[in-house]
Amino acid sequence: MEYFPYPHPLETERLILRPMTEQDAPRFHEIFDGEPKVWEFDPGLPCKPEERRMWTLRHAMEPDMASGRSGLFGRSVVRKEDGLVIGAAGICPLTVPGGWEQGKPQAGATLEPTLFYQMGLEYWGKGYMTEACRRLLEFALIELRLPRVLCGTQRKNVHAVRLMERLGFHPTWFPAPSNFWGREPVCGVITAEVWKNQSTSVT
Ligand SMILES: CC(C)(COP(=O)(O)OP(=O)(O)OC[C@H]1O[C@@H](n2cnc3c(N)ncnc32)[C@H](O)[C@@H]1OP(=O)(O)O)[C@@H](O)C(=O)NCCC(=O)NCCS
Repeated sequence: MEYFPYPHPLETERLILRPMTEQDAPRFHEIFDGEPKVWEFDPGLPCKPEERRMWTLRHAMEPDMASGRSGLFGRSVVRKEDGLVIGAAGICPLTVPGGWEQGKPQAGATLEPTLFYQMGLEYWGKGYMTEACRRLLEFALIELRLPRVLCGTQRKNVHAVRLMERLGFHPTWFPAPSNFWGREPVCGVITAEVWKNQSTSVT
């Protein structure tokens, strides 16, 4: 029988990234939906408790992009020092209307591994999400050998744009093919090759 190495928790210096479970939904509701700055851009409206439960379940059950099996790829970001869930992040399949090739949007639709993240407001500004996303990208691009990972947001989401830049996404501005990522989308892609080259120089 084929060895199936995950879902398993991923670890960083300060964080555990463990598979999301339905039981995380009330905590996500508390830290995401009660604060307008957190839901302002994604998806633009706060979720009710039942909607957040469905959101959590969907992310917990997304099939992973490497094997096509349910990989529990949505992760709860847990702070080691106190065990608190401070956010959510993961790399989930997303249907991209134009697809991507060599960093440029193309005609036709593709399913792309896409990085997502959100964190409770009181945990912003401490470098936690950069730390979490670097581990996820290392896992996806090196351990799972995905060829590339996308990330997108809206231009006005300055914190997310800065995070993308820190991770090396080099966000490119392009006109939205649909209402994808809102009115002024900014998207970037990191290939495994780029990640390998930059991972030694990332600070
Ligand atoms: C996107 C989001 C996760 C970014 O949060 P963040 O706190 O800016 O990101 P990080 O946790 O990586 O912290 C980086 C910040 O902490 C600072 N920092 C402090 N201590 C640090 C440390 N030890 N290591 C690294 N950075 C540190 C950095 O300088 C940086 O601040 P800056 O952007 O002002 O320069 C957060 O804004 C969020 O949850 N937004 C709502 C959800 C959302 O919009 N998601 C994207 C939808 S498409």
